[in-house]
Amino acid sequence: MLVLGLETSCDDTAAAVLQDGNKLLSNIINDQSNIHSKYGGIVPELAGRSHIDQVHKVIRCALESAQVKLRDIDLLAVTVGPGLIGSLLVGLNTAKGISYGLGTPLVGVNHLEGHLLAIFLQKQIEFPFIALVVSGGHTDLYRVNNFGQYQLLGRTRDDAAGESFDKVAKMLGHKYPGGPKIEKMAVEGNAKAHKFPRAYLEKASLDFSFSGLKTSVKNYIDKLQSSNGLSDGDIAAAFQEAVVEVLSKKIIMACEQEGLSRVVVTGGVASNGALRKAVASVCSDSGYESWFPDPVFCTDNAAMIACAGYQKYKNFPASKADLLNMDATASLLL
Ligand code: KG4
Ligand code: ZN
Repeated sequence: MLVLGLETSCDDTAAAVLQDGNKLLSNIINDQSNIHSKYGGIVPELAGRSHIDQVHKVIRCALESAQVKLRDIDLLAVTVGPGLIGSLLVGLNTAKGISYGLGTPLVGVNHLEGHLLAIFLQKQIEFPFIALVVSGGHTDLYRVNNFGQYQLLGRTRDDAAGESFDKVAKMLGHKYPGGPKIEKMAVEGNAKAHKFPRAYLEKASLDFSFSGLKTSVKNYIDKLQSSNGLSDGDIAAAFQEAVVEVLSKKIIMACEQEGLSRVVVTGGVASNGALRKAVASVCSDSGYESWFPDPVFCTDNAAMIACAGYQKYKNFPASKADLLNMDATASLLL
């Protein structure tokens, strides 16, 4: 079965062709960071316009690279939320047009379900497991019982972890997206040079909070950095360690609370090497197993949407869309 996945929820125009749920034939991503970087964040109107300009080129490229024709596609899977509404509508209406024109079935996919199931592109994980989706818009801990059965255990009460990486990078003079820049700077820095606060919230809470950490870094840079002689690398390393420590500890707390020993960490921030290393280490100390999609499947991509769409169609055939009633939802929950 050939699935064409389409992802335009934020600032990446992406299309991928997936065979039988885990054989990836192509994975094309047009990243818009050159458009948004000078504004310090994503400009929704520019994102939507760039998707319109790129979406057909990206689809054509995905089909050519997979050496298949649009008529060969058995199923279309498209992100229907959460995300920027103008961006979502470009992907959704493109997919609807193809579906209407060729009679190809279409399923709508929740972007978070795409992130959650990205690991299945590489490995079939046994259910149930704990999953952390950690991205620019979300920091959500789930108990994953099966395909389509997700129980939210905790989430951020303010900024997402990726957002805090982006904001701290901006304070240090770097353009969006800041996560990879912080990771690179942190390699040169000393994480023990300063201790930033960790927000664990109430005892046993699996929620997160990163806005206090962000403010603390801002105050430190404004008032103390030059007098204490810390380099940008030290600040980046100390900040990254604070985020990584909280995420790792809450994963272990979630495993203990739910009595589970399998962990998946996914979403853009899961491409961070320090986070991968720390989670793998705390999990192995507790006798748990952990998996991380390859970095290219952690950040936004259409392969994960094709994978989630394939599972949805296979496990819930009635999820095939009623084209006229299908809509995009900016704040879609999982
Ligand atoms: O999953 P994603 O591509 O888009 C959303 O669904 O939000 O995640 C993007 C986020 C950005 O905040 C970006 O700075 C962060 O992931 N990110 C990283 C790294 N690579 C991307 N954060 C930390 N370390 C990285 N290596
Ligand atoms: Zn995402």
